[in-house]
Amino acid sequence: MGSGIAETAAVSGYEVILRSRSQSTADATLASLEKSLNRQVEKGKMSGAERDQALGRVTGTSELAALSGCDLVIESVVEDLSVKKELFSDLDRITADHAILATNTSTLPVIEMAVKTGRPGNVCGIHFFNPAPVMSLVEVVRPLTASDETIAEARAFAEACGKTPVEVKDRAGFIVNALLFPYLNNAVRLYELGVASIGDIDAAMKGGCGFPMGPFALLDLVGLDTSLAILDALYEEFRDPNYAAMPLLRRMVTAEQLGRKSGKGFLDYKK
Ligand SMILES: NC(=O)c1ccc[n+]([C@@H]2O[C@H](COP(=O)([O-])OP(=O)(O)OC[C@H]3O[C@@H](n4cnc5c(N)ncnc54)[C@H](O)[C@@H]3O)[C@@H](O)[C@H]2O)c1
Repeated sequence: MGSGIAETAAVSGYEVILRSRSQSTADATLASLEKSLNRQVEKGKMSGAERDQALGRVTGTSELAALSGCDLVIESVVEDLSVKKELFSDLDRITADHAILATNTSTLPVIEMAVKTGRPGNVCGIHFFNPAPVMSLVEVVRPLTASDETIAEARAFAEACGKTPVEVKDRAGFIVNALLFPYLNNAVRLYELGVASIGDIDAAMKGGCGFPMGPFALLDLVGLDTSLAILDALYEEFRDPNYAAMPLLRRMVTAEQLGRKSGKGFLDYKK
C-alpha cells in the first residue's frame, strides 16, 4: 500500500519521501513503483516524460528523520496497533508542529495513535484502497480529537490526488471494511462447509452480482494476514460472530500462505 500511495501522490504533483525500515526495502519499493508507472506508459495512460517527472518527485530513505520537513505524513506499516502507536510517537517528535500525521489503517482505532502525539488535533485517517493508484475512494477518518482544519486538509489532499473522499467516524472498519469483511469471512465459511469450491464461489459472485473479482481473489489481493488483522480488530470492537475469523484463514496465515504477496493464498500466483 505504501508504494501505491507514494505513486498516487507523486503522479498528482506532490514531492514524496518514501521511508522504509531499510534502504534495501526502500529501493525495492521504488523499483516496484517504477514498474507500475512503466505499465501505465505501455498502456498509453501516461507519457514517458510524465513517468520521469513523477519518479523524480520520489526519494527513498530508511531515515525517519528525513520526514522532518513534511507537511503530511501517511503511515502505512503493518496492521499492528503497538507498531503504529510507537511510530506516531516518533513522528510527533520528528515533524514540525503544523504537520498532519495520518494513518492508512483499515480498522484500528485512530484515536489510539492520535493520543500518542502532542497534536491530536492534527491526526486523522486517510484510508486508500488497493491498488491505491487505481481505486477512486479515500475514507477520511475523523477521530474524536481531530480538528475541522485537519479533516478539510485531508479531504483536499485526497481530491488533489484525483480521489473521491468520504468522511467517516473513527469506528472499526469505517464504512467499506465494516460491510465487506462479514461477506469475505462468510465466503471462507461456505468453502469450509464444503458448499462449493473456491473457483465456483468466486465465479458466482462475479457472474451473479457483477463484482469485478470474487471473495477469494479479493482476500488474496488484500493479503490474508492483513485480512485476519482486520477481522480481529472488528471482532475485538463489536464481538459480532460475523467478524470472528474463520479457522482456515488463521491457519493459512500461520502457514505463511498470505495471498499474492507470498505467491500462494486461496489461489496460486507466479512469483
Ligand atoms: N492490503 C490492503 O488491501 C490494504 C488496503 C488499505 C489499507 N491497508 C492498510 O495499509 C497498511 C499496510 O498494509 P499492507 O497490506 O501494505 O501490508 P504489507 O504487509 O504489504 O506491508 C506492511 C509494511 O510494513 C512494514 N513493517 C512491518 N513491521 C514494521 C515495523 N515494526 N515498523 C515499520 N514498518 C514495518 C513491512 O516491512 C511492510 O513493508 C495496514 O495498516 C493496512 O491495514 C491495506
